Amino acid sequence: MVLLGPPGAGKGTHASRVAGKLSVPKMASGDLFREHQKNNTSLGRLAQSYMERGVLVPDEITINMVMDWIGENGNDRGFLLDGFPRTLTQASALAESLSVDSGIDRVIYIDVPTAVLIRRLSGRQICRCCQSIYHLEFAPLQSGGECDNCGGEIYQREDDRKESVLCRLEVYKAETEPLIEYYRNLEILVDVDGNKDVEDVEGVLMKAVGS
Ligand code: AP5
Repeated sequence: MVLLGPPGAGKGTHASRVAGKLSVPKMASGDLFREHQKNNTSLGRLAQSYMERGVLVPDEITINMVMDWIGENGNDRGFLLDGFPRTLTQASALAESLSVDSGIDRVIYIDVPTAVLIRRLSGRQICRCCQSIYHLEFAPLQSGGECDNCGGEIYQREDDRKESVLCRLEVYKAETEPLIEYYRNLEILVDVDGNKDVEDVEGVLMKAVGS
């Protein structure tokens, strides 16, 4: 299954919850890149220069990283992808790699108006340790300034600064939005209105998974 949607739509928020409920592994391409940066790998250093500017990491690099993850983590129960594919080239590579299996069952497209996305990204906070996602206004930390889940350090992503956010939204429109029609034509796309409370969105999303 794939979660598709603009930056700030709630892909990360829902990917963890849905993967937990379905007991399947999940891969978030942005998290994988950030993990490489934390470990100061050559891939991490390369990706950083693109991510800071809010543009996509080149397809070849991203596809290789994700295919390695699928090779190591894919199983009979399937898996959940958050933030991949993000270009038509990535979608073709994914389709090709899964062609001997059953392919992608479902693509959930989470739609949220741009003004709401900007508000969500500007207030987002993340745990450096377990990647739990919070929001100053919509999902505030309960325990002072540390992660409620693991006590880890909380930080704000570099690419959540206003200039990067606007760039990411433009890149999304140009490079990723065409995937909506691509998957709609394959009749595996389900539309979900993401401009509701997290619990409401999750209810619709779980129904879409079961449909
Ligand atoms: P990535 O980390 O994937 O960022 P993104 O796609 O821009 O998505 P976000 O993580 O910003 O948003 P989200 O939809 O997960 O929202 P969230 O749940 O956090 O990618 C970062 C960069 O890595 C890219 O720019 C690119 O450079 C590179 N990259 C990654 N994948 C790539 C690929 N495939 N190809 C090439 N390059 C790639 O929610 C946002 C906030 O809203 C949170 O604070 C949350 O608490 C709040 N919130 C969520 N839902 C709700 C709700 N229903 N109501 C109120 N608040 C909510």
